Amino acid sequence: MFENIKKYALEVEIFASSKPEEIEQFRIKYLGKKGILNDLFAKFKEVPNEQKKEFGQQINNLKQSVTQKIEAMKESVSSQISSDSGLDLTRSGIPLNLGSRHPINVVRNKIINIFKKIGFSVADGPEIEDDWHNFTALNMSEFHPARDMQDTFFIEKHPDKVLRTHTSSVQIRYMEEHRPPIRILAPGRVYRNEDISARSHCMFHQIEGLYIDTQVSFADLKHTLQYFTSELFGKSEIRMRPSYFPFTEPSAEVDVYWGLETETDYRITKGTGWLEILGCGMVDPNVLTNVNIDPEKYSGFAFGMGIERIVMLMHQIGDIRVFTENDIRMLQQFSNEF
Ligand code: PHE
Repeated sequence: MFENIKKYALEVEIFASSKPEEIEQFRIKYLGKKGILNDLFAKFKEVPNEQKKEFGQQINNLKQSVTQKIEAMKESVSSQISSDSGLDLTRSGIPLNLGSRHPINVVRNKIINIFKKIGFSVADGPEIEDDWHNFTALNMSEFHPARDMQDTFFIEKHPDKVLRTHTSSVQIRYMEEHRPPIRILAPGRVYRNEDISARSHCMFHQIEGLYIDTQVSFADLKHTLQYFTSELFGKSEIRMRPSYFPFTEPSAEVDVYWGLETETDYRITKGTGWLEILGCGMVDPNVLTNVNIDPEKYSGFAFGMGIERIVMLMHQIGDIRVFTENDIRMLQQFSNEF
């Protein structure tokens, strides 16, 4: 008897019906209050005791099969409904608007990669710096007039703390922790209360380079910078003008020969063809002594450049404020660069 009912329910009755009403009718017919299964259950009393166990199992078995069929039918109905609703799983997705790197980071990464090729690695330091790392250890004692070269933000409640005015502080931090040979680049934000940077919220970016080893000479410095300018700008004609920084001796400003081919070249080089790109020099022996590196044994060079300035030169950007205005039309122009 059970086998017949089961066979009928599973094979003859509707299957994979597309209509929810039919499925509901099927459910009522078998599982409803007055349904076949309840009828069978009512007969339970009449079944002889020794057959009760088997009878009960058969009812359960039948109930399970019918329930499964209902579930399966419901599922096929709901998937049919969603494909009727126009869902096409083979369609391509909605295009994502990919973001892009900020031009300052693009150029910073380019510079890092150029120096990585000749063995430099990246070092880091805090933006809230103490007097020792930002000034004193860099050969600028408390009343040194050179402190006026960089108009500094002090932290009112902590007179010993400043917002670092240059990434040269990372030179000191790194040399305190490491012994030569040293070859590092230190990119990061710096802060000055200056007119040029006041327009850009008194903050701009620098990259510092430091190389300390035995027998490092000024010729090494010049050649390294020549390599750098030819890799970054495709221009290797540079000139070094004598300059002054307390932490380097001798010191120089470096100009790269940009050329005078276009009208823009005239404008950005003020008609000279030369562009100033960085400051540099041989690390002053006093600085090495301050970090317990023997200046008799070791020498080295350091350089520092402003990234904004270089980005402006490379992309002929006329106003430093565009870097922090967050105008997506400007930022999107760099979406192909990494
Ligand atoms: N720290 C200097 C500046 O901010 C740049 C510099 C770095 C010069 C390293 C020489 C050597 O102007």
